[in-house]
Amino acid sequence: MSLMSKIKHRGMPLFAASVLAAGAGNAGAQERPLYLDGAKPVEARVEDLLSRLTLEEKVSLVHANAHFSTAGVPRLGIPALIMDDGPLGVREEVGEHGVILNHKDDFATALPGALGLAATWNTNLAFDFGLVIGQEAKQRGKDIMLGPAVNIQRTPLCGRNFEYLGEDPFLTSRLAVNYIEGEQAQGVSSCVKHFAANSQEYQRGSINEIIDERTLREIYLPAFRAAVQEAGVMTVMGAYNQINGQHCCENERLLNEILKHEWGFKGAVISDWNGVHHTDLAALNGMDIEMGSWQDYDEYYLASPFLAGLQSGKFPVSVLDDKVRRHLYVMYKLNLIHDPSAPPATNAAPPIELSTPAHQEIARKIAEESFVLLKNQNLLPLDPPRLKTIAIIGANATAIFAHGGGSARIKAPYEITALEGISNRLGGNIKLIYAQGYNPPVGSGGVETQSEAEETVPPLDSSKLIAEAVAAAKSADVVIYVGGLNHHGGYDTEGADRKDIKLPGEQDELIQKVVQANPKTVVILYGGGAVEMDAWLAKVPALLYAWYPGLEGGNALARVLFGDVNPSGKLPCTFPKRLADSPAHALDAYPGTNGKVVYKEGLLVGYRWFDTKKIEPLFPFGYGLSYTTFKYANLKLVPAPAAPGLPVKVEFELANTGSRAGAEVAQIYVQETSPSLPRPLKELKGFKKVFLQPGEKQKVSVVLDRNAFAHYDPDKKAWVADKGDYKILVGSSSRDLLLDGKFKLTETMMEK
Ligand code: BGC
Repeated sequence: MSLMSKIKHRGMPLFAASVLAAGAGNAGAQERPLYLDGAKPVEARVEDLLSRLTLEEKVSLVHANAHFSTAGVPRLGIPALIMDDGPLGVREEVGEHGVILNHKDDFATALPGALGLAATWNTNLAFDFGLVIGQEAKQRGKDIMLGPAVNIQRTPLCGRNFEYLGEDPFLTSRLAVNYIEGEQAQGVSSCVKHFAANSQEYQRGSINEIIDERTLREIYLPAFRAAVQEAGVMTVMGAYNQINGQHCCENERLLNEILKHEWGFKGAVISDWNGVHHTDLAALNGMDIEMGSWQDYDEYYLASPFLAGLQSGKFPVSVLDDKVRRHLYVMYKLNLIHDPSAPPATNAAPPIELSTPAHQEIARKIAEESFVLLKNQNLLPLDPPRLKTIAIIGANATAIFAHGGGSARIKAPYEITALEGISNRLGGNIKLIYAQGYNPPVGSGGVETQSEAEETVPPLDSSKLIAEAVAAAKSADVVIYVGGLNHHGGYDTEGADRKDIKLPGEQDELIQKVVQANPKTVVILYGGGAVEMDAWLAKVPALLYAWYPGLEGGNALARVLFGDVNPSGKLPCTFPKRLADSPAHALDAYPGTNGKVVYKEGLLVGYRWFDTKKIEPLFPFGYGLSYTTFKYANLKLVPAPAAPGLPVKVEFELANTGSRAGAEVAQIYVQETSPSLPRPLKELKGFKKVFLQPGEKQKVSVVLDRNAFAHYDPDKKAWVADKGDYKILVGSSSRDLLLDGKFKLTETMMEK
């Protein structure tokens, strides 16, 4: 469609025309105006309020007037709409250009990185994660929280993987829905981001991603759709990148056709900061609120230039009205519109302590369940009475992380390091010797360079560091090595991707020398995903991946190391043996050339690639060990033909056959035997985290609805579940499938 014909046709109304007349002009002098009448339907109140706004006032609602807000219209009781980052907790107060204001009362609970949340595979914890942020946001007077971030991990290098929920659309969707429900139940709006496919930070503002329709539908969009249609998310943030030639913040296909028209999204689309590039495209292609970080707010694309276009008749006012309706709809949902003659509404809850002990406990529980035990040859859990001296080696043992990484940063009231957590747990009964061991990455490497605390610590002599670590290892009963990545120097930082998946600094050499000096070495890695481990993995008896565990991280870690808590995390992303094995790299389809990246691997993201192409990963998707053992038995597939949409109930028994209480994440994968279109070998379609006492057995039951069998058919423009045979695979990871059964779908099911 040409721009001009679009202009004529645009202005898709959000509400039925019948409500249009309802409010306009019917407020008598004494009468309570319709828009303030809580007994009236929101749609009618929106229309009434809309009809009272001047053109200029309406335009003021569709762009920023400060770093994290839009202007209000006080004469009508419309307050400013206050937003804040972000996905892992409520960020500290920032002013213009995102400059940190150093307030004294803006602490927040730093939850673990979202990839850690994903590793819990626990939807209840996802709800609690959202609840904590929602309650603290409310406390701090925020209306919209900019999260969760649900972009799919396409490459282990992406600098924001730690903020995202892993490589699988089903796992991501289930967690995102629960997170949003927990957050929005507190009276704040979530803003699911970044719509869509912000899966690399390198050239994120301009990169043109070429993604075929089926891949978009099956891999990159499901979490957004679930956020809209299941969780009722009130706002969606457009991504920086382009998809198929158009920036996501002004992308007709994504915003108007898919999000608003097909999915029926009623809320507002917010741009990523400075993610809008044109007035015409943003005006017409579904962007509702333009945000940014430069200060000439009148010069925003959806400010004066838009107003001029409306005044000249270039854009019909219906285009503006649709955006304003959405803005007002969100405000009504949040109960923000107030009687202008009464004191202004505030979204702040009555003052309570910021970051309460209850919230900190939730953060600790999430961290405890997030740790993934990748290897354990009879070393963990450690038994304190049998230990006199522990060597704690590695720069991450004394590091804190919550304040780094870009916009997901949190000013935590405290953060327990690994060393502190271990020392808290042991209470001075065991001698702890600490050695730094390696030089950690320093500097920001991300977009927020000016606001990251830049400490340029000069590197220490690495041979001296290694010698000290080896001496410490030799003198101890066991070694707890705490290394991995951090949020500096281009690692796990917004605005930059990692260059490779090697451990930074001298860690590969150090770990080898430490384990040689003391074979009883536990390696703990912090970070946002896979690292190469060739140099030392075979020699190390125990390995735990800890992600970024939030403000209670060190305490959580100690509880797992010393057996108070049994680890139950499972990888939400494949760890490849080497970067070149993972799909985008194997196909030379990252980071793109001449500003363009073709998603050549299509559907084969993460384990879908490794399974279909029969490539052995280092650790597969869904993998994680426990201190106990589990047994799967007696799979039954109970068809539910009478209930359309519920084709099969998967039932099996799960028993804890070891001597410790523990939790297992039972995973259900579906494989189509003769698909009508090529499909990945198998796909995750169900999971359940089951907590079992030693010796306890439980019947587990998971319903697979028709979506579990469907693929997207771009020709039919529909989700199609072919009639025919499917294998249902149940197990402990994507590569440890312990039960399988066959299921026949007797008729083809199609859904738009
Ligand atoms: C990030 C968003 C964030 C926004 C506001 C952008 O750079 O991509 O995720 O919410 O800044 O800080």
